Amino acid sequence: MSAHNSPMEKHPIPEAIARDAHVNADQYKAMYEASVNDPEGFWREQGAALKWSKPFTKVKNTTFAHPDVSIKWFEDGEMNVCENCVDRHLDTRGDQVAIIWEPDSPTEASKHITYSELHREVSKLANVYKTLGVEKGDRVVLYMPMIPEAAYAMLACARIGAVHSIVFGGFSPDALAARVKSCDAKLLVTADQAPRGGKATPLKVNADAAMEVCGDVQTLVVERTGADVGLKEGRDHSYAALMAQASEDCPAVAVNAEDPLFILYTSGSTGQPKGVVHSSAGYLVYAALTHKYVFDYKDDDIFWCTADVGWVTGHSYIVYGPLANGATTLMFEGVPTYPDASRFWQVCDEHKVTQFYTAPTAIRALMGLGDEFVTKCDLSSLRILGTVGEPINPEAWNWYNEIVGKDKCPIVDTWWQTETGGHLMTPLPGAIETKPGSCTLPFFGVQPVILDPQTGEEITTTEAEGVLCIKDSWPAQMRTVYGDHDRFVSTYFSDYKGYYFTGDGCRRDADGYYWITGRVDDVINVSGHRMGTAEVESALVAHEKVAESAVVGYPHDIKGQGIYAYVTLMSGEEPSEELRKELSDWVRKEIGPIAKPDLIQWAPGLPKTRSGKIMRRILRKIAEDDFGALGDTSTLADPSVVDDLIENRMNRG
Ligand code: WT7
Repeated sequence: MSAHNSPMEKHPIPEAIARDAHVNADQYKAMYEASVNDPEGFWREQGAALKWSKPFTKVKNTTFAHPDVSIKWFEDGEMNVCENCVDRHLDTRGDQVAIIWEPDSPTEASKHITYSELHREVSKLANVYKTLGVEKGDRVVLYMPMIPEAAYAMLACARIGAVHSIVFGGFSPDALAARVKSCDAKLLVTADQAPRGGKATPLKVNADAAMEVCGDVQTLVVERTGADVGLKEGRDHSYAALMAQASEDCPAVAVNAEDPLFILYTSGSTGQPKGVVHSSAGYLVYAALTHKYVFDYKDDDIFWCTADVGWVTGHSYIVYGPLANGATTLMFEGVPTYPDASRFWQVCDEHKVTQFYTAPTAIRALMGLGDEFVTKCDLSSLRILGTVGEPINPEAWNWYNEIVGKDKCPIVDTWWQTETGGHLMTPLPGAIETKPGSCTLPFFGVQPVILDPQTGEEITTTEAEGVLCIKDSWPAQMRTVYGDHDRFVSTYFSDYKGYYFTGDGCRRDADGYYWITGRVDDVINVSGHRMGTAEVESALVAHEKVAESAVVGYPHDIKGQGIYAYVTLMSGEEPSEELRKELSDWVRKEIGPIAKPDLIQWAPGLPKTRSGKIMRRILRKIAEDDFGALGDTSTLADPSVVDDLIENRMNRG
């Protein structure tokens, strides 16, 4: 086993990888230079890799200039995403496996779906959509387990030009209702239940509850477990029944390159979640290109991304990127620790996985359970490892590298966002040496800049620290916030004019490597899931006993960040352990389990400025158990509230 490298020391590229990878260091440099010096030329060539019904002549038409932000790629071309992910491969790969599905329980059989089968299922489902009245441009909400039908449901939308919006199966009925309503969905596709870790999430029961709130929506129900969930006459339809009658013939509809492919709701620093809108062609070109280069994907590889399709990672790297490349993609229904902590590694062995892509939170959790769960497995098929979702600490990185990767698999630490559609900064396995915790260098076409948060000026020295912005567009950039272009402009292009503002802090080291230091806004990252503190606060104050609340993140060993809520009760209400539990359950019901506060502190008062603004900086420090460095509290209206909060803090190191 190699000695641990210091964080500033580079890990060399394993020899076998350096020899065979798509690009080496010199090629990366040359391609990167070309991509930023001549974006038109670079992306014209990449765009041409898709199958077009009507070829594009224009490549890039984008401006970040406030307030006229407008992003268009390949704008006069026409194509179909489903055709590119499925039909295009039929001649050469009809019998190749497109999707390997591994169920929650290892005792249930896995499935291998070929490109021909995928084509048949998706075509039938697209016809089912049509019989339910779904037309081009209509929105279809998916609330699904991790089953092949989730991929069919996405691709079937694309086939007829409908726009899908996936709601993660862990979200509550209220959260589902809000999203169905916000995008005015024509159809909801769900399942009876979602098995996960030996339990079953009652998706259909939740969908019924959601419709109590948002009103009835036509619903297609996939029979996953066969539980008797009841179909409401005139509203609910059986997937099995409609698929049995559906024709296999459904031509893919050509759409404009810029027509939306999907909407995905994500949390921001203020207000309710935003509907991030992604395009068709630009998104697909970029998802496919990053999948190929970042994971060094080659024919016969078995690619596994452990994300849920409810997150952007699942969209880009379970479904669209891999399938556009004619890859074999593995979809896993379960969790890393069921039936035990060997599950991931057993699945790798069983299916001879070559690329494995997961989140730091999973790595930290597994690391804590002991090496034997990993070392008893073979894992010799693995070639590349990846992480995504949050900064990875060097301890977890080293464990992943040594215990899982046996020091022979490069780790690609991919930094990106729901808004970016695909990886923006990441190592390329054969080209960029890694450093534990750094996402290293930008992908082709991406121009990161670090700005001074005070002046908004670009820091041009190699070593720099500040806020991370991107200087120019890339094809998979989100196009707008659904129904609210002004919010798009004000969220991402107003604080630092002329740039896309990522919301992340960042450091660039002497080698020019980038290190994400975390969000600089009121967004927290819990187990790689993004949560707006404002959302949790508004859920808390919706409870009748809560007068006021402030929510911040604090360091958490497994989750990266935990949710710390300060709660002021209505006068006359008494704090109690029961009430604490009641509030936790309440947030769980309002948003979902991922939003449940880890710690709730009763706050008789919150630290506010004289103008009534909550001083979150102070609350963050107390939650971090770092109250020695509170900084200037002289502008507080009532400094004594701080003493009480410190006295009764919940996170004591
Ligand atoms: C935020 C985006 C993109 C897929 C999953 C999350 C953080 C993401 C990394 C990384 C450090 C990371 C950032 C970013 N983040 N990847 N490799 N290193 N931080 O998507 O929910 O849109 O969250 O996740 O803070 O802004 P998301």
